[in-house]
Amino acid sequence: MTESRDSKFPRDGEPDTPDMLDGEHDYAMWDAAYVLGALADADRLEFETHLVGCASCRQAVTELTAVSPLLSLLDYDHVVAPDFADESTAAPPCPDLMTSLLARADQRSAAASDRSERPPSLIPAAVVDAQTVFPVFRTGNYAPVHDELTAFDLPVQGSIPAELNGWYLRNGPNPRSGAGHWCVGDGMVHGVRLENGRAAWYRNRWVRTESFERPFPNYNDDGTRNLHASIANTHVVRHAGKTLALMEFSLPYEISNDLETLGAYDFGGKLMDSMTAHPKICPATGEMHFFGSGNIFEPHVIYHRADADGQLTIDRPIDVPALTLMHDFALTADHVVFMDLPLLFDLSLAFTQQNERDLPYRWQDQYGARLGVLRRDDPYGPVRWFDIDPCFVFHVANSYDNGNSVVLEVLRYPEMWRDSSEFGTDAELWRWSINLDTGMVEESQLDDRGVEFPRVDDRLAGAAARYSVAVGSGALVRYDLQRDTASEHRFGADGSHGAPSAPGEAVFAPAVGESDELAGWYLTYVYDPVTDGSELVIIDASDFEGDPVARVRLPRRVPHGFHGNWIPD
Ligand SMILES: [Fe+2]
Repeated sequence: MTESRDSKFPRDGEPDTPDMLDGEHDYAMWDAAYVLGALADADRLEFETHLVGCASCRQAVTELTAVSPLLSLLDYDHVVAPDFADESTAAPPCPDLMTSLLARADQRSAAASDRSERPPSLIPAAVVDAQTVFPVFRTGNYAPVHDELTAFDLPVQGSIPAELNGWYLRNGPNPRSGAGHWCVGDGMVHGVRLENGRAAWYRNRWVRTESFERPFPNYNDDGTRNLHASIANTHVVRHAGKTLALMEFSLPYEISNDLETLGAYDFGGKLMDSMTAHPKICPATGEMHFFGSGNIFEPHVIYHRADADGQLTIDRPIDVPALTLMHDFALTADHVVFMDLPLLFDLSLAFTQQNERDLPYRWQDQYGARLGVLRRDDPYGPVRWFDIDPCFVFHVANSYDNGNSVVLEVLRYPEMWRDSSEFGTDAELWRWSINLDTGMVEESQLDDRGVEFPRVDDRLAGAAARYSVAVGSGALVRYDLQRDTASEHRFGADGSHGAPSAPGEAVFAPAVGESDELAGWYLTYVYDPVTDGSELVIIDASDFEGDPVARVRLPRRVPHGFHGNWIPD
């Protein structure tokens, strides 16, 4: 195995710029909002004293004000160190201080919580009762909205391309009550209908699963999972004429074009497994490839395939030693690739966890990490496993065959959830090249920006897409994966595209009749904390760094969410 991590994508036409924050202070940034929003006054005072001497934490808080109006309300808009501050002596070590403050906040939370024994759950039992939480995910644009709106003929700045006829749909967590962790809130789909150059309507609708509508057990009487129990909050995809809201531990839920929930979808009774929120639709065959995971009992992972008509044709167990958090996988023209990474479900933690903000998964050094390669033309054949350096990956950006190698471009975390399930470090773009002849995996870091939610032109799923767009800090980052360069479409005060703003995942909508990756538009919801509102922003892919071609003003902010799709007519 070889590794090189010395390269960083230069930005097209720009010199390199230093990162605003390192991983340690990203952690502090999120926790800053937590402690400022949740601690007693005495603890706040201690944190403010720390801020005076710690330039990095001040910078973190200043950045956070861009996405959290709460901090503005608390007068943290402009945190400035006085001239007399001596940073060398005034600043205690950030991790220690934050650990201490977080512990005190947890104690307050625990004291206020009336806990009872719960059955094990892959996600906290809080999902179905008193939802758990990062307080930061209850503030700013992480906070949920409380009702469902319908608005017609939305105001537009610029011009919506007339050939964009369809729906832009995006899913995300929107808890109805409690203080729920962002990741496990009830799914809500936000959609905009584009039609002949106008934004015909906006709707937001909860995915009204059976467990949304009434108390519903996570497990059946025989101990198996109740796959109808779902928060359906992660993705929304269309295949074989059905639009499916997805969350990886349950069945899909079908929704209508008007975002009304039609019911659980089990492929005509054939799917007796959960379905990943990241299925892959092969543009050549129309097949949908996916897997199910989350079963405490073996098999922990099952690979599934549905044909272009939506008929389930393949169910094939994948042998892995333990139940890990397997969020995504990869498809190429000839292979599927599974990521067996060292973030393991902890049954004892699920039974005993006291912190409702926690998820029962933990990093395990001894587990190792490996990639499992299965030939598409031999779906019941052997899975070849290849060791890689331990890491965690939520999302694969791009994957393709290259001669006798299988290449994955992924957003890689050095580790995940060692001591708690709080997010600490950023993901960065890496490339894995699996040599099927030698059995070796070449691992190389391509960039050191922190990014997430990567997308390519989905018509190139399984092929070598040239471009992948991910969400960075106040910007969309587009990687040119052939030239190993990157460019940014910036939002915010230091960019040219409006007020400080936070974009979400950007989806590519191709121009009709065109096959080029630059012939089309990127669609994303962008939140503006100044107005506490959101827009659907449409960016010409051939002018990525330029002004958007259209900004559709939405009737209300769209909370930060996960994934979505452009669904053309
Ligand atoms: Fe995801």
